[in-house]
Amino acid sequence: MNPLAQQLNTTLAPTVAGRLLSQVGQRMYFPKGIVAQSAEASAKATRFNATVGMAVAGGNPIMLPSLAALLPSLTSKEAVAYAPTGGVMALRTLWQKQILQKNPGLREADFSLPMVIPGLTAGIFQAEELFLDPGDEVLIADMFWGNYRLIIEGRRKGVVKTFPYFTPGTEEPGFNIQGFKEALVDAATRLKKLMVILNFPNNPSGYTPTKEEARAMAAALVDAAEMGLDLAVVCDDAYFGLFFDENCETQSLFSYLAQAHERILALKVDGSTKEDLVWGFRVGFLSFGCKGFTADHYHALLQKLMGSIRSSVSSSPGNSQHLLVKTLESPTYQAEKASFLQVMVDRYKKVKEVLEGKGARDARSLLRPLPFNSGYFMSFVCQGISAEALRLALLDKGIGTIAIGTEYLRIAFSSVDVQDIPTLYSEIFTTARGLQG
Ligand SMILES: Cc1ncc(COP(=O)(O)O)c(C=O)c1O
Repeated sequence: MNPLAQQLNTTLAPTVAGRLLSQVGQRMYFPKGIVAQSAEASAKATRFNATVGMAVAGGNPIMLPSLAALLPSLTSKEAVAYAPTGGVMALRTLWQKQILQKNPGLREADFSLPMVIPGLTAGIFQAEELFLDPGDEVLIADMFWGNYRLIIEGRRKGVVKTFPYFTPGTEEPGFNIQGFKEALVDAATRLKKLMVILNFPNNPSGYTPTKEEARAMAAALVDAAEMGLDLAVVCDDAYFGLFFDENCETQSLFSYLAQAHERILALKVDGSTKEDLVWGFRVGFLSFGCKGFTADHYHALLQKLMGSIRSSVSSSPGNSQHLLVKTLESPTYQAEKASFLQVMVDRYKKVKEVLEGKGARDARSLLRPLPFNSGYFMSFVCQGISAEALRLALLDKGIGTIAIGTEYLRIAFSSVDVQDIPTLYSEIFTTARGLQG
């Protein structure tokens, strides 16, 4: 094994991260190669810098004039130069500040500096690369974003285990804390290590747990850790901030877990994709938090992650990171976000209103709405009709929805103008009734 990787493994060996590292994770290190040497040169090479593989003139990267004309607010360095492997430092520190503002329960010392990854998918991917070996289990609620399975099983040969997200058999279901606990106890009695992915606001259900449920979830994880289970808990906060109900827990589960237990390594996957409405920018972040971690432990883990980034995507796009630095620093940024949130709140309220109406009541035996209070989506449970058949019938009417298996129909109300929501739902109810045998 490479001596740099060995050194990092030795640093992490006494910690849960050391025990959780996959074979790939153990082999990762950030080489003292081109990237490290050119980083050194940019600090010290005051005469000529002949290190990095870019075309430079007069100290600035050369840029095609037609492209420069399209990006007048960026220097050529910001527009076309490689970004550092771990991301633009100004953006990483700004994002760290944002995490602290949005999660008052967290202190700066509780977690690592966020590292930039090209979108949240890459955050999940990197977490699996570093901590999942073939055959390892990942516990997820049964309402989950389908790409998890592709990454876990398709790429890493891991095993997806699910627990029912909602409390069964109740008119007003909430987060199924009992099911979560049972799944953790089962894992703790069989396994030495487990990865858990928690995604709130949830895709596809649109449900975020209440504060009480969040506390119970953290306590269940601590109990499992007390039983001797090493846990990597990934908090996928893709839709963070889109909370529409006062009962929602508005802090990330990460703030409960970052310092919860020496056996719990918390990973926060979040980013600008949905939070800053820049879906195609490919800017996300991965941060770590663990009780008892020193600066050396965080450094070693971030070096592992940098090695994994360097050996896969090399770096994230630079221009989108620089545009985000300027956006996050803009004096109108917070007000702009508040006004966008209001647009989503209005759509959410309209959907709730429609679901109280006669059309919804008449179709309720066929389409049961699952609880939702946040995010982009809500889902119906299809009863006596197939979700896929309903999706196809709606498509024939020019309406796009997502069927998840045969049972669930997901509606992204985030992408429908508020005035169109009543018509959209009325079409869904009518079409469902038309499919009834
Ligand atoms: C729950 C969840 N996590 C992660 C992502 C991926 O985000 P990104 O586009 O930044 O890769 C999505 C995107 O739809 C998502 O729904």
